[in-house]
Amino acid sequence: MLFESNKNNNPSRPSNSVEGLIMSNPTQATSAPWRIGVLFSRTGFMSVIEETQYQGTQLAIEEVNEAGGVCGRELVPVAYDPGSDSAAYGHYAKRLMVEDQVSTIFGCYTSSSRKAVLPVVERLNGLLWYPTLYEGFEASPNVIYTGASPNQNSLALCRYLMDTFGTRFYFVGSDYIYPRESNRVMRELLKSNGGSVVGERYVNVYARWQDFVPIIQDIKRVRPDVIFSTVVGEGTVFLYQAYANVGLDPKQVPIASLTTTEAEIAAMGFDVGEGHVTAASYFQGVEGSANNAFVQRFKKRFGADISTNMCAEASYFQLHLFAKALEQVNSLDTEVLRSMVFGTSFDAPQGAVTVNPMSGHTDLWTRIGRANRQGQFDVVSQSKEPVHADPFLIGYGRATQTGSVQ
Ligand code: ACM
Repeated sequence: MLFESNKNNNPSRPSNSVEGLIMSNPTQATSAPWRIGVLFSRTGFMSVIEETQYQGTQLAIEEVNEAGGVCGRELVPVAYDPGSDSAAYGHYAKRLMVEDQVSTIFGCYTSSSRKAVLPVVERLNGLLWYPTLYEGFEASPNVIYTGASPNQNSLALCRYLMDTFGTRFYFVGSDYIYPRESNRVMRELLKSNGGSVVGERYVNVYARWQDFVPIIQDIKRVRPDVIFSTVVGEGTVFLYQAYANVGLDPKQVPIASLTTTEAEIAAMGFDVGEGHVTAASYFQGVEGSANNAFVQRFKKRFGADISTNMCAEASYFQLHLFAKALEQVNSLDTEVLRSMVFGTSFDAPQGAVTVNPMSGHTDLWTRIGRANRQGQFDVVSQSKEPVHADPFLIGYGRATQTGSVQ
């Protein structure tokens, strides 16, 4: 196991254990709640998706508590809203760990917010549970990664798009680390399979509708086979609306993405999203009893009109997986908890998932969906089994590593 030997033998790295603090106070009853940190933006341009991550986390906490808590102790979230400002995630992570005495944090969507939290959890030896797909090429002993790495989404998406639409891709992304790095991976995949990048544009994360108009005009001029979008948050809504406004046809030249979920489709309008392509570990329509129960409870809790999505699902299952491991070790001490988390499996709504001890990333399912008129994704292909997390693309090219997709 890559991180197993990382015991706390450095006196400058405190063991930030809430349980440890409680145990050091003999007057504190052992039925005291487990305090956990929650950091998702419920305001600002990322709230379109992060609100659903907050909801997935909240639902799982409520379910755990209704079932009696963990070792008879309730989970109590300490939540902050970073307002879609990456630097604020670092600020609140520090406040959670230093002032609120929390050692485990569930949060972050953008890679820039994760990068802001990383030095805090590494310095103070906390644990960040990160429920979002990302660009890969990172592994920290202080992060549990439960969203997809490029070998679990980009690889299959590239193959599907080249087989179905053609080899000339146009990249459009928000301007920060995830889009730039995700595009680097996609460019490599394209080049090694005979494809090419015929355009590449980036917009500010705060981009509005009019910022996409010249890009759409350029796309009409260049006439690519596929538009690969790494735009995130509210910008996604504006990109797809600007596309629809000029009458481009998703059947001919779809926008393909790893970040456009049921939540962004609902915000842009079902008619606007119809026909576009997303690769994800999870869509609301996944068949199976675990997902049926999740969708039913999510809608009962947050509203019949609200769909689940891959980010809400990862937020939900990672909290349950955490509770399962905590039940075993009865401790929030980072080393103790992490060693139990590694190798733990959970019957998630997407199917069985396992935290891979090689990297702290999660073995997940790979699916490709096309949005329909009801704002849901029709699954056009899916892996036969969970795909091993390979965040550094070490096994790229070896079929056994990438998983087979039907
Ligand atoms: C992302 O920024 N990881 C989508």
